[in-house]
Amino acid sequence: MKIAIDGPAGAGKSTISKAVAEKLGYVYIDTGAMYRSVGLAAITDGIDPRDESGVVGILDDLNIEIKTSGGAQRYYLNGADVTEKIRENPVSMAASNVAVIPAVRLKLVELQRKTAEKADVVMDGRDIGTYVLPDAELKIYLTASVHERALRRFRELSAKGETADIESVEREIAARDKNDSERDFAPLRQADDAILVDTTDMTVPEVIDAIIKLAEEKRAEVSG
Ligand code: DC
Repeated sequence: MKIAIDGPAGAGKSTISKAVAEKLGYVYIDTGAMYRSVGLAAITDGIDPRDESGVVGILDDLNIEIKTSGGAQRYYLNGADVTEKIRENPVSMAASNVAVIPAVRLKLVELQRKTAEKADVVMDGRDIGTYVLPDAELKIYLTASVHERALRRFRELSAKGETADIESVEREIAARDKNDSERDFAPLRQADDAILVDTTDMTVPEVIDAIIKLAEEKRAEVSG
């Protein structure tokens, strides 16, 4: 079974998807981490992430790998462990900008589909239900108000010791929402057959329980 979880930045997709995958014994695939790796590669090479020909120029030489060790996933970019680095704040907007470039999407979508072929998966991103896995048995569109998402992101950054102020975090989230939903190729959008889950007033365990329940219902339906 394939579970697609899409939604805007800061809706809690990775926390929720990881927990749901763990409970169901499925493989979790974080597609945002792949776009973040390309964004990081552009920054590292001094390329503007919006410069299509510059980014396309480094694309063929990028090798992105996901390895699981002790239950946790680590991300490697050309052999270097970038698991922590791709979560740093400047990488978020860089990821959103490289994600506008069709050649970047085509390369990463191929990797995502290949990974999903091998197992039962929970895959999170922006275009999983609409483009990457249109036949996913369960599609969730996870969202929350911009203010709530900014608050969550702000707390996460503060916990890591990164300096941030709530107004700029909220502005950045709104800018990413706009960038991700207004691009031409596979924009962020709720699939027609996705179930909307607004987490603004929900706790993390409540969201996990709600999705597990939907997954169990779907699993029973699929297995007849
Ligand atoms: O989910 P995230 O915040 O880690 O994703 C970072 C950026 O990557 C996001 O702003 C847009 C892009 N992205 C995308 O375009 N498609 C996906 N399936 C996943 C992420």
